[in-house]
Amino acid sequence: MKCNNITFHEGKVNKFDRYKVLGQKGLVVWLTGLSASGKSTIAVEAEKVLNSMGKAVYRLDGDNIRFGLNSDLGFSERDRFENIRRISEVCALFQDAGLIVIASFISPLARMRQMAREKCGESFIEVYVKADVETCIKRDPKGLYQKALNGEIQNFTGISAPYEEPGNPELVLDTQCNPLDVCVQQLVGKILEMSAFEK
Ligand SMILES: Nc1ncnc2c1ncn2[C@@H]1O[C@H](COP(=O)(O)OP(=O)(O)OP(=O)(O)O)[C@@H](O)[C@H]1O
Ligand SMILES: [Mg+2]
Repeated sequence: MKCNNITFHEGKVNKFDRYKVLGQKGLVVWLTGLSASGKSTIAVEAEKVLNSMGKAVYRLDGDNIRFGLNSDLGFSERDRFENIRRISEVCALFQDAGLIVIASFISPLARMRQMAREKCGESFIEVYVKADVETCIKRDPKGLYQKALNGEIQNFTGISAPYEEPGNPELVLDTQCNPLDVCVQQLVGKILEMSAFEK
């Protein structure tokens, strides 16, 4: 923190007051997995289903955030940490506002995901979107694996940078074994359970 002369100014409305208005609990749903594992594809479908059910839901996507808030960051480990730090702050604010946030970030290191979990508190679930690197190379929807294998992209997770598998995620979506609709159903079910709020 760079400033000393700042004081937190409390409001008269807390997050439970907001949950009551929205009829749901704020929740951060953190999707982690290799590039092309299916995070964005699943997040888009889950958001659509939840929105059609009348839920206040918002998607934060790794690539999208790099167009704006994090356009000054690259893919070095330091920048990846700063990327996740800022996103974790945004997630925590949206959760406090009462939203269901579906965040899709490779977040390759356990320490990054731990940082997000600590920032967001108890209303946080880690979801491992699971597909092995061979499957992801075959899918390669953005052509990034090809570029990484040709040495045109440095620090590419799974090829030239590590991915640490989650040790104890709240949910695993196996996109190798299950089709998209099954993964979406599993995710939506978990989100409805975790965001339920009794008035
Ligand atoms: N069960 C599944 N769930 C999700 N995606 C699947 C599944 N089966 C196949 N796919 C395909 O896998 C690809 C996943 O790409 P997607 O962009 O969603 O990955 P991502 O995890 O968001 O990657 P990145 O980290 O690069 O953003 C898509 O082409 C999608 O159609
Ligand atoms: Mg994506």
